[in-house]
Amino acid sequence: MLLLLLLTNAFVLLPWAGAGRIIGGREVKDHSRPYMAFLEIKSGSKPSWCGGFLIRPDAVLSAAHCMDIEEIESVTVILGAHNISDEECSQQKISVAGWVIHPKYSCKDGKNDIVLLKLNEKATITKNVRCISIAENHECVKAGDLCTVSGWGRTSTEGDMSDVLMEVDMEVQNEEICEQLSSKYQRQSMICVGDEDNKKATAPGDSGGPLVCNEKAHGILSHGCGGRLSPDVFTRISHFEPWIRKKLKSFSRKAISCFPFSD
Ligand SMILES: *[C@@H]1O[C@H](CO)[C@@H](O)[C@H](O)[C@H]1NC(C)=O
Repeated sequence: MLLLLLLTNAFVLLPWAGAGRIIGGREVKDHSRPYMAFLEIKSGSKPSWCGGFLIRPDAVLSAAHCMDIEEIESVTVILGAHNISDEECSQQKISVAGWVIHPKYSCKDGKNDIVLLKLNEKATITKNVRCISIAENHECVKAGDLCTVSGWGRTSTEGDMSDVLMEVDMEVQNEEICEQLSSKYQRQSMICVGDEDNKKATAPGDSGGPLVCNEKAHGILSHGCGGRLSPDVFTRISHFEPWIRKKLKSFSRKAISCFPFSD
């Protein structure tokens, strides 16, 4: 299937939306990541899940490959969740009105893996539901910076899904590491992040979740690299910040009718 096709590429896109895992991580303190969004994507065959994050009461940022699915019927965003299997009072379930995938997104090489989703109604900002600031165009992370990634998903390569939000600390790596593992790595639009001991990692269901460094979202979990557990490649938000701002403006103007929006 798709997985086999992708595996034949030197550059393995640890797949699309699906089950995932934070490996070597810990449970987050309840609601300490109030910007985290859980995306439920329903399409003809079966539902899939991804992470995302709230950047404005009516807008969630995620990875384009999460939405790169045929015949999506509906997308729902769950905010304010800790245990995603529980009906917590803190949760807000909001349907997605539409989304914009970056026009230069490529599923073959994972470039420009970014999507902006517009919610059908504004989220109510509470202590459990808040926005996170995104890195500005001039702000960059450098090798050695310590960041965190959170997600709902499996906690080991063989383990069960976790229904509570997990997180893992990960270090920004020297970009040569990702360049050596993949000819498709692009410095300006990607961030190479990992764990040297190869014990901590993320995987598909965590896709779309934010790389948070210094309380700002700097990356969007995109894909693995060279078929290894670590490092991971994140979409570099600072590079896309002007595009994000432009789309947010058009979201404010646009009467929402159908999706996906054309860019
Ligand atoms: C999450 O909620 C479900 C449903 O209430 C419960 O069965 C499960 O044990 C909870 N998980 C954790 C880790 O608390």
